Formats: sequence, structure tokens, C-alpha cells
Amino acid sequence: MSPGPRVANEQWWVGVGRSLATFQLGESGGGRHIAAAAIAAGRTDLLEPLALFVREEQEHARLLGLVLDLGEVDRIGEHWTDGAFVDMRHIGGLRTELLTLLVAEIVGFQYYAALADSAPTPALRSVFSAIRDDEALHFAFLISVMNSLFAGWSRPRRTAALGVFRVVADASAVVMAIDHRHALGTAGISPARFVTRCWDLRRSLIDRLSGSIYPELLSVPHSFSPPRATLESALPH
Ligand SMILES: [Fe+2]
Ligand SMILES: [Fe+2]
Repeated sequence: MSPGPRVANEQWWVGVGRSLATFQLGESGGGRHIAAAAIAAGRTDLLEPLALFVREEQEHARLLGLVLDLGEVDRIGEHWTDGAFVDMRHIGGLRTELLTLLVAEIVGFQYYAALADSAPTPALRSVFSAIRDDEALHFAFLISVMNSLFAGWSRPRRTAALGVFRVVADASAVVMAIDHRHALGTAGISPARFVTRCWDLRRSLIDRLSGSIYPELLSVPHSFSPPRATLESALPH
């Protein structure tokens, strides 16, 4: 009998297991608060795209759950970093919520990109690649929405908000790099390298948030990725 996926790549699972469980938890949030924030901001036009966005994150949670099952890694019900992100999202209105989500997207994108490049099997690499590609689209979506929300703001006010975003995003990258150093090391990336990648990405996002309003960015995308039947069949059962 051939060894199971966990046995074949024991070292990899030991390195990333707990970290993956934390990300699985982070992807599994509901969308009630963000919908309430959109209504409070008078942006009911965002309810449908935000619901699709939340559903796609929940799809990531489901896929990561399959990955955890594959590696016989227990799911976790809470983690302090997840709690901190949720608290941060909820301290302000829709802009705070979306900018905090953008912080999580930066870290998540670089994390999944690292795993997509280094996971030990084609099925695992395909899962992480698909999630990474979704997160890349989430940047476009969140930037589009943020630019529409910033439209009525003066430049100094927008600059101040982005200054706070910058500090929180850069600090989060450092915390994440330290907290997940074993998983990153397993993926062949030092914490310093990971932080540099996050900071570079943050820089490009701020560029896209601080310029003039691009009309094409104001059309909020309404369609997200199709279901991943192909991915699921790629995962050994
Ligand atoms: Fe996600
Ligand atoms: Fe995302």
C-alpha cells in the first residue's frame, strides 16, 4: 500500500500545519458586519458584490479545510491574530473594515504565493495557486470600492487614512512573519524576505489608492470565480 499524503511529506506538514489552520480560520468569517457597514454608509449597491467577496473567502476556508484534512491537521476555533483582525475591522465604518481586509489580503497573497511555489505535490500547489489568484483579484475589487468611497474626500484626509493603513499593514506583515516563521521557512522564505514582499505590495496598493480616481475602477466587479470542481477532484481523497 502506498503511503498517505501526510506520510509522504511529513516534514512539510509539520512545518505548515498549524499555520495553515490559522489561515483556514481567518478565511471563514461571515459577512454580517460588513453588510451592516455598507448599509450604514449608504452603499447598498455594494451588498451583492460584498456578499460574493465574502462567499469567495469562505470558499477558501472550505478548500483549506480539505487541505487540513489531507494532512490530518486539526482545525482551530480561535487564534489571537484572527481576533485582532476582527476587532480592528469592527472599530470603524466601511472604510476601516475594507482597509483592514486589504491588510489581510496583502499578507494572505504573499503567504499563498509562497506555498504555491513550494508545496510538495501538484494538487496542493494547484489549491494554493488558485487561492493566490483569487486574492490578486480581491485587490482590484477592494481598491475599486475604496476609491469610490474616497471620492468625496479631500486629498489630505485620504493621505491621512492611507498613512494609518501603511503603518498597520507594515506592522501586520512583521507580526505575521514572526508568528508563521516555521511555515515560511518550510516554504523556503525567511521572515525578512516575506516582510519585504508584503511592503513592496503595500507600496503598489497605496499608489493605486492615492492617485486620481480612475473611472474604470469605479465599476465594481460582480462576478467572482466559478466553483472549483476541478480542484476538488485534484485533491486525493
Ligand atoms: Fe482568501
Ligand atoms: Fe481575499
